[in-house]
Amino acid sequence: MNNFTFRLPTEIHFGKGTENEVGALVRARGCKKVLVHYGSGSAKRSGLLDKVFAALDAEGINYISLGGVVPNPRLSLVYEGIRLCNEEGVDFILAVGGGSVIDSAKGIGYGVANPDCDVWEFYEKKKVPKATLPVGVILTIAAAGSETSNSSVLTKEDGWLKRGAQNEISRPVFAIMDPELTYTLPKYQTASGSVDIMMHTLERYFQPGIMSITMALGEALLRTMLHYAPIAYKEPENYEARAEIMWCGSLSHNSMMELGGTRGDWSCHQLEHELGGMFDVAHGAGLAAVWPTWARYVWKAMPDRFYTFATRVMGVADQGDEEATILAGIDAFEAFLKSIDMPTRIRELGIDPTDEQVAELALKCSHWHGRSIGTDGVMPLPYDDILKIYQLAL
Ligand code: NZQ
Ligand code: ZN
Repeated sequence: MNNFTFRLPTEIHFGKGTENEVGALVRARGCKKVLVHYGSGSAKRSGLLDKVFAALDAEGINYISLGGVVPNPRLSLVYEGIRLCNEEGVDFILAVGGGSVIDSAKGIGYGVANPDCDVWEFYEKKKVPKATLPVGVILTIAAAGSETSNSSVLTKEDGWLKRGAQNEISRPVFAIMDPELTYTLPKYQTASGSVDIMMHTLERYFQPGIMSITMALGEALLRTMLHYAPIAYKEPENYEARAEIMWCGSLSHNSMMELGGTRGDWSCHQLEHELGGMFDVAHGAGLAAVWPTWARYVWKAMPDRFYTFATRVMGVADQGDEEATILAGIDAFEAFLKSIDMPTRIRELGIDPTDEQVAELALKCSHWHGRSIGTDGVMPLPYDDILKIYQLAL
């Protein structure tokens, strides 16, 4: 078991109507000017944005706004946000949206607080940010977990590279989480978000050094998601399902699911990030498209954990044979993904990469032969294995 430090600074305001607290929460931070950052229109259409502006007006808070964040958020908009914040003297960012908006806000925060650096250097891991602007969140989709995570992921249009930066200073100062705000989600986003939530725990579950209590918490979270994701998928306005899923989203990615171990495996996330960067697929759907192939490719390197996954999470009865039980567990998870209409192959994402593009995916994922993925998890996967998994997953 590894030593760990765990600090979660994000103040959570969870439940119906909590978005009405936003004015007071921002005011309590004592900031001079706020950037309200949002996506491509859902927060406008739902009336949430007008509510936010009214709440800030009521508290006499100065603000400007910048919308237009797209899924797989772009570096160019982050640069625009940095310029805007510098011109306007912004010292607090309010992200109204999902993982993409929150990550874009985190990128802008890094850029403003580190004027001597190009923010992309943090995502290429060439430099470490020393400071950031505080970010508050109103969450509108349960998925990425960015509302409490230490991570943000951006896509650089030049070369279509998707890269993440992890730093404790980037955890939001508050997160407003009203499950009713997720009622308007398209079904595909509900399913894709649910997969992402489960993957954040699975990536950590498949590693050697995890504590028993951490494993047990992860198993409970996964079983909760197996139960509620199909309900929310069929009944978008089922409050109980939306609430359980939303809270799972934060718990899954606030680092609690890795305590006592390493950060985890993260191979599927690395494989997906290249798919997202090159083909702009929804993150959770991209994870669903590679997970079954990855699992069947690597399970022999960690049979014990795949066995507990099959029996304790997927509820598979022991088949009298370890291999059969493990494979039945992977099949059961694949069947679950199909039950919420998620792809379990790359072409089911609606894309058809050429042989050259598959090689490019593997090259980018291996950082041009410079790294293996999965080194802290099930098994290290260098370029050749990465290529094989992409090919098998097509
Ligand atoms: O832009 P709008 O119009 O708001 O539409 C969004 C977007 O099209 C829509 N949406 C969000 N809330 C809605 C809604 N539509 C109707 N009603 C609502 N209430 O949903 C679409 C997806 O939004 P997005 O923010 O992209 O979703 P998600 O939260 O899944 O974020 C995905 C991004 O987060 C990154 C992913 O790689 C991806 O770029 N991740 C971030 C992580 C982190 N920071 O810790 C960890 C994750 O592993 C992940 O990599
Ligand atoms: Zn994810």
